[in-house]
Amino acid sequence: MRSYRIAAIPADGIGIEVIDAGLEVLKVLEQRAGDFRLEVEHFPWGSAYYRKHGRLMDEDGLERLKKFDAIYFGAVGAPDVPDHVTLWGLRLPICQGFDQYANVRPTRVLPGLKSPLAGVGAGDLDWVIIRENSEGEYAGAGGRVHRGLPEEVGTEVAVFTRAGVRRIMRFAFELAQKRPRRLLTLITKSNAQRHGMVMWDEIFYDTARDFPDVRTDKELVDAATTRMVLKPGTLDVMVATNLHADILSDLAAALAGSLGVAPTANLNPERRFPSMFEPIHGSAFDITGMGIANPIASFWTASMMLEHLGEREASARLMAAIERVTAAGAPRTPDLGGTAATKDVTRAVCDALLGANV
Ligand code: IPM
Ligand code: MG
Repeated sequence: MRSYRIAAIPADGIGIEVIDAGLEVLKVLEQRAGDFRLEVEHFPWGSAYYRKHGRLMDEDGLERLKKFDAIYFGAVGAPDVPDHVTLWGLRLPICQGFDQYANVRPTRVLPGLKSPLAGVGAGDLDWVIIRENSEGEYAGAGGRVHRGLPEEVGTEVAVFTRAGVRRIMRFAFELAQKRPRRLLTLITKSNAQRHGMVMWDEIFYDTARDFPDVRTDKELVDAATTRMVLKPGTLDVMVATNLHADILSDLAAALAGSLGVAPTANLNPERRFPSMFEPIHGSAFDITGMGIANPIASFWTASMMLEHLGEREASARLMAAIERVTAAGAPRTPDLGGTAATKDVTRAVCDALLGANV
């Protein structure tokens, strides 16, 4: 029996509810498949932990996580703890410490769901955003001097390294090469930012030479938003910096029907460290504890995790079960216009998994 060690870090807000739901679905999947096992260990880290212990995760946290095959992460953030504290206390140390430099964000309109764009249905919007996840605008470089004085200066320095850009470009080309349309769009802002961004573009075109079968084009990040809205069918894979991709992926999720559906994988492609899988939506204090969070992003995330672990069949089966439920039109959580609870959608996906044809 194949066996994998999963570190579950539900952390904050609806992260706790949707990871719970995801683990329930994974259990059913595991029982149904019968040939693999997930050994799940829970970590209580997050904002509640911070209030008690003054840190979001234990000091030896990364050391302990190292031995896992994957990390299944909920969301981090709470109303009473500054966002930069929570983010830099838990999620970014894992992404950066484990060199999860490739962030993969698939977006498509799932069967039965409705894009806010008129006339756009399943198949008309099918993208993968590749986000550089280790440096750029999130490198953490910068500082403040003359604090509190009128002369105060704050800098936030975007850092681009040749090695860092090169590896994300290669990753993006390799992924684009595996998709039917084989189209990779370079997202940039090299018209205004003439150092790092020009280097970013140069390395993209250098890398392109090794992938003659991948078509390429280029879009400035501001123009990319227009193209996503007006001509969604002309895009396939996009590669973007840490911040640009952060912004575009929220737009992408909304255009595909709901942020409550969008998954993401933080990958260390060389597998020197565990990779981390999480829904994009964040902790959502406004609906925390109400039991109405959409668990679909967490399920899609789990499917990406299984794929990464090499459990292709189980991954595809889970995706098929999700799509069967979305196609049926119900149950749906409020973000998708329904009135169902998290547990109703979870039950429906479990039932679909147990059904004969998935
Ligand atoms: C994301 C999120 C995070 C980010 C937040 C929670 C800091 O928006 O994963 O897209 O900006 O990276
Ligand atoms: Mg974001």
